[in-house]
Amino acid sequence: MIGIIGAMQVEVEHIKAVMTDVETETISGIEFCRGKISGKDMVAAKCGIGKVFASVCAEAMILRYNPDVIVNIGVAGTLTNELNTTDIAVAKSVVHHDLDTSPLGDPIGLISGVNIINIECDKKVSSLLEKCVKSLGINCKAGVIASGDQFVCTTERKNFIRDTFNAIACEMEGASIGHVCFINGTRFGVLRAISDGADEKSHMDYDKFVPLAAKNSFEVIKRFIEEF
Ligand code: ADE
Repeated sequence: MIGIIGAMQVEVEHIKAVMTDVETETISGIEFCRGKISGKDMVAAKCGIGKVFASVCAEAMILRYNPDVIVNIGVAGTLTNELNTTDIAVAKSVVHHDLDTSPLGDPIGLISGVNIINIECDKKVSSLLEKCVKSLGINCKAGVIASGDQFVCTTERKNFIRDTFNAIACEMEGASIGHVCFINGTRFGVLRAISDGADEKSHMDYDKFVPLAAKNSFEVIKRFIEEF
């Protein structure tokens, strides 16, 4: 079974629209939609914005449906000149850019206990996602995607995240979903279409580009589901 998690309605509505044999169930206030796409067993959910909702959704999805893989789709702010609006970032790994125990001597982003900063995505999932993006003629870059409970909208914060983690895109859920998958031993990937520049103009770009960016990530995930 393939699990798909998006933060917002616009990110998962296209998936739910093409799903057949649909059964829905609500857990912890999150609606899980189970069904089939291209003959494959699927479960999809809109988790809500931010790391807590994303974590709750991923944990519930794993415990209830035991998916073989979870892919987090959605939009992101770009941190690199190589990715413009509606291009796509695929995660090789994810980091929590707002996890900071550095006053205790740790590097920024360290996940205490497991002692890692970067949570590695499943290599086969990431490379298939990348292949699907390229096959649709969409510009793609793979690298580190950074998550935090904030909409990044200053050049200062953008540069900090890029320089600290060598990250290519920022969003608000991927690292939590990756973190939950990591502690449960579930394969995962993150696919994000660029909606904005994560700078002082980001709120204007965001409103303009979210629908097209979300559509792009849907086209890719549809192809991914066919080929997985
Ligand atoms: N998702 C889309 N754009 C974002 C940004 N600039 N910061 C955080 N999450 C985002």
